Amino acid sequence: MRTLHRLWPYVKKYRAAISAGLACLVAVDVIQLIFPLLMAHAVDALKIRNLSEVHRALAWLAGLAVLIVAIRYLWRLLLLGASRKIERDLRDDFFRKLLRAPQPFLDGSRSGDLLSLSTNDIAVVRQFLGFGLMSLGDAVVLISFSIFLMFTLSVPLTLLVAVPLPLITLAMLKLGIRLHDAHEETQNQFGDLSARLQEDLYGVRVIRAYGQEQNRQAAFTGAADAYRRKIMYVTRLQGLFYPLLKVLAGAATVLVLWFGGLEVIRGRLTLGQFVAFTEYVAMLSWPLMALGWIINLVQRARASMGRLNRVFEVSDAAGGREDLEPAPAFRTLEVRDLTQDVGFGAAHGDSSEPFRFDGVRLVLRRGEWVGLAGRTACGKSSLVSRVLRIYEPPAGAIFLDGVDVTRIDPRALRERISYVPQEGFLFSQSLLSNFKLGSRNIPEESVAQIADIVQMKDEIDRFPDRLKSRVGERGITLSGGQRQRVAVGRALLKDADFYIFDDPFSCVDLDTEERVFERMKTLLAGRGVLMITHRVQTLARMDRIVFIDAGRTVETGTHAELLARRGMYARFVEAQELKERLEAAV
Ligand SMILES: Nc1ncnc2c1ncn2[C@@H]1O[C@H](COP(=O)(O)OP(=O)(O)OP(=O)(O)O)[C@@H](O)[C@H]1O
Ligand SMILES: [Mg+2]
Repeated sequence: MRTLHRLWPYVKKYRAAISAGLACLVAVDVIQLIFPLLMAHAVDALKIRNLSEVHRALAWLAGLAVLIVAIRYLWRLLLLGASRKIERDLRDDFFRKLLRAPQPFLDGSRSGDLLSLSTNDIAVVRQFLGFGLMSLGDAVVLISFSIFLMFTLSVPLTLLVAVPLPLITLAMLKLGIRLHDAHEETQNQFGDLSARLQEDLYGVRVIRAYGQEQNRQAAFTGAADAYRRKIMYVTRLQGLFYPLLKVLAGAATVLVLWFGGLEVIRGRLTLGQFVAFTEYVAMLSWPLMALGWIINLVQRARASMGRLNRVFEVSDAAGGREDLEPAPAFRTLEVRDLTQDVGFGAAHGDSSEPFRFDGVRLVLRRGEWVGLAGRTACGKSSLVSRVLRIYEPPAGAIFLDGVDVTRIDPRALRERISYVPQEGFLFSQSLLSNFKLGSRNIPEESVAQIADIVQMKDEIDRFPDRLKSRVGERGITLSGGQRQRVAVGRALLKDADFYIFDDPFSCVDLDTEERVFERMKTLLAGRGVLMITHRVQTLARMDRIVFIDAGRTVETGTHAELLARRGMYARFVEAQELKERLEAAV
């Protein structure tokens, strides 16, 4: 039961509604239990032809039936309502957790799996808390009371029907465990299916470009069929489970008809009591079956909660306090000899050679423009994501005004540093909200100004709704260069001490880049800029260049100094320039 512990605070929050709901439930059950007694009374009155008694009993039955409708409506509203609220809270907290989870955890999870946790598994938990607990309360009250009342009617008859009951329990336990395992597998299979669907939708352009439709379709069909097989197995088990319970309940009824009939003939039981007894036996079959269903549901809820707990138990990425004071303005960013294992080896436990920082040094002061260059996969993006603590750097490596970043609240840190990630992500919202992301109270005119700075004014004027035009998912309806410039504009709208751009113009032509660059120079005067780029033309304009190779700073200086040194940077420039000349020629 430990896995379900986490639900306790949620249940506690709605304890008033849940208690009231359960009270209504017990009330309905008690009224239901009176029914057979009234029936007994009516039948016995009928036998002595006391019609007024019969009518009275019928009036009571009708009145109670109306009452049951009203109370039943109430408990459904109260209990199922509470379970829906808990479901919402749980889903909310799950999302909150994901937003705070450390980046390596998210890198190692498939979004389809997380999606299925947030939909399927949370729904199972809700079912357990709603219908599950409700049926459990129902079953406990109905079973204990009706057995008690049956004893008062006839002891030998009750003992007789008590024989099939343990058999029902036994059947439930035997098949219940198998059902649980099978359910776990279906959930996993479903997660796999959604993960596939999501990834293939995400990569649909690549799939088309490489003519992989049939292969992907075949793989998907395979997964969909595996899911069907798992579900069918569960269905077969359930197909055995419930009819078996019905047969056992039926056996009890047959026993009552046979032995109870004899008891009536012998005069040890009135006809009315006999009728009441058969009513109770019939009444028992539902809660006994419900018990089977509940055991099944508890097991499913435990499996789902177990999976959810694995996410809930991930510790939050460092910091993230809500009550943030505005951070002081920073003047210097310094990376001192950053050394750290990163790479897939470290994150995924496979044996390939992991990437490693092996002595990165870098200084950026306000008012400076520093270029960060190096061959592909030398560690540039990884470095800046550590400055922002998206990935945790080791202590004693990265400092802001002499304070170790690992001791600065990440939110305060990100408040003061504006960052354009390499894969500048756009949301499927309007261009305006994409520009404004994160800073709500920016007037539209400022956004229009920024759009002009990133040279998008003319393009935006041609869009159907200008700045209000909606972009497709992940910005798919924009060109690569447009996406990049929106991402840059978004960062420029933020008032920060340092601006970090990760290869922001790789899809933008040289001319446009130059124009944006000139405008940025004026706009960002007095701020510190770190610009990752492969373009020589851009690097040549920097106050300083830090050249990295294989996770290590190898050269630092101005463009001219580094060229004169004729080292790695000079060779890099030579190769780049050749490429850029070729590009310019076409
Ligand atoms: N999230 C991650 N988990 C594990 N390893 C990673 C991760 N991101 C990057 N790496 C590894 O770190 C190394 C450096 O990657 P990084 O993205 O920093 O390169 P880069 O210098 O930005 O390259 P490019 O110029 O191509 O953008 C690569 O070998 C990559 O495999
Ligand atoms: Mg990169």
